[in-house]
Amino acid sequence: MNITPVIDYLEKHKDQHLKELIEFLKIPSISALKKHKPDIEKAADFMVNKLEELDLDVEKIQTPGNPLVYAQSKKMDPSKKTLLFYGHYDVQPVDPIDLWDYPPFEPTIVNDTIYARGVSDDKGQLYSHLMAIEAFRQTSTEIPVNIKIIFEGEEEGGGENIYKFTENNPEKLACDAVIISDTSQYNENTPAICYSLKGIVYMEFRVKGSGMDLHSGSFGGVVKNACNGLAEIIADLKNKDGVIQIPGFYDNVLELEQSEKEEFASLQYSDEVLKKDTGSSAPHGEKGYTTLERMWGRPTLDVNGIWGGYSGEGGKTIIPSTAGAKVSMRLVPNQNPQRIAKLFREYVLQVAHPSLEVEVDTLHTAVPVLIPRDHEITQSGINALEKGFANKAKFIREGGSIPIVATFQKSLKAPVLLLGYGLPNDNIHSPNERYLLQNFYNGNKTTAYLFDELS
Ligand code: BES
Ligand code: ZN
Repeated sequence: MNITPVIDYLEKHKDQHLKELIEFLKIPSISALKKHKPDIEKAADFMVNKLEELDLDVEKIQTPGNPLVYAQSKKMDPSKKTLLFYGHYDVQPVDPIDLWDYPPFEPTIVNDTIYARGVSDDKGQLYSHLMAIEAFRQTSTEIPVNIKIIFEGEEEGGGENIYKFTENNPEKLACDAVIISDTSQYNENTPAICYSLKGIVYMEFRVKGSGMDLHSGSFGGVVKNACNGLAEIIADLKNKDGVIQIPGFYDNVLELEQSEKEEFASLQYSDEVLKKDTGSSAPHGEKGYTTLERMWGRPTLDVNGIWGGYSGEGGKTIIPSTAGAKVSMRLVPNQNPQRIAKLFREYVLQVAHPSLEVEVDTLHTAVPVLIPRDHEITQSGINALEKGFANKAKFIREGGSIPIVATFQKSLKAPVLLLGYGLPNDNIHSPNERYLLQNFYNGNKTTAYLFDELS
């Protein structure tokens, strides 16, 4: 097929495509916050309209949570392969808002970079697929595959509705490959195919030491302080070498192969890059592993937030009654999230001071993912990336999670291609989330080249 008109179309319509993306980015579709439910609907409707404009059959599927948006080619040609595109139209909360240089839902372009919540994760990335489809349509170039699309609005909250939908509708989503752009490239000059995502277990626990806050003079030293008690539990979760202390935690960890360690080493990740991308003073982590091994191949445990006692202005001399923490554990193949949640719970209850009342909840979980690299779609993905980004592509793993991927592998039995268009320093989940305009435009072309590869 002749892809030139498609690529020319994308070149010529950059400004219009950017304008459209900006409209999408203005919708504050934060799935974690109930008050943004109308914005979730708005973002779903935005997707519905755009997909209809692309001449697809579109359905907005209501769930007990946020709607799924499903679309497919009007005519499914049995002689063609079918690709299922997945993405999420929801975004993370914006706190701490004071640290944003530009308002998160007023997309701002500075130095060929667009700043907005969700621009890299995942609105900008998923939009590339739509731009590629549009370019084929507008140039009357036949798309050489059948298209299916499923977008969800709960990814950032660990929502479960897409699991149920996928398990209940494997025929509807049946495909030859699943294409997902919701990961990062290795760096600005190195596009990448990701072949492993971490799983997650997200826990919350709360402790109560006394029936009420108490005067710290009157009752100090005679009853258990909830904040101290919480800190003791947290301190017991890991040792000084960064090793997680929950018995059995590492039991099923699939160790990195020697060849993977060598590949990671060949990427020459430097402490300087880590410092620059994180603003931290030095690398830190589990003893005996390099930064990339820790990032991509080792399970982790992190406190995401702590509360309790008085942290307002001035002093307030109290023994706090309650305290709590949220903890995420990132899992690697073949750890089982349910098992890890159980072990965490048992351990917290065991190490907690006996006079504390302790409650432990599992908020959400996701299974880790490993993708075989030898499927032909992977090679097509590499070729497409190398054309779209004009640079040699590498294989990487990621520390992040895309919860539905394991279910796609299991229920659809189709290979998954993680074709990331973002960058590790896009500040996803953080203030000043951003996306290089170049990555948006090159992503649009890459999806177009992917279609071409499959012709
Ligand atoms: N796009 C990310 C996943 C990701 C992060 C891939 C970093 C590569 C690098 C995705 O939208 C995400 O953030 N997922 C959540 C899932 C969680 C809430 C269950 C995550 O990883 O925190
Ligand atoms: Zn995310």
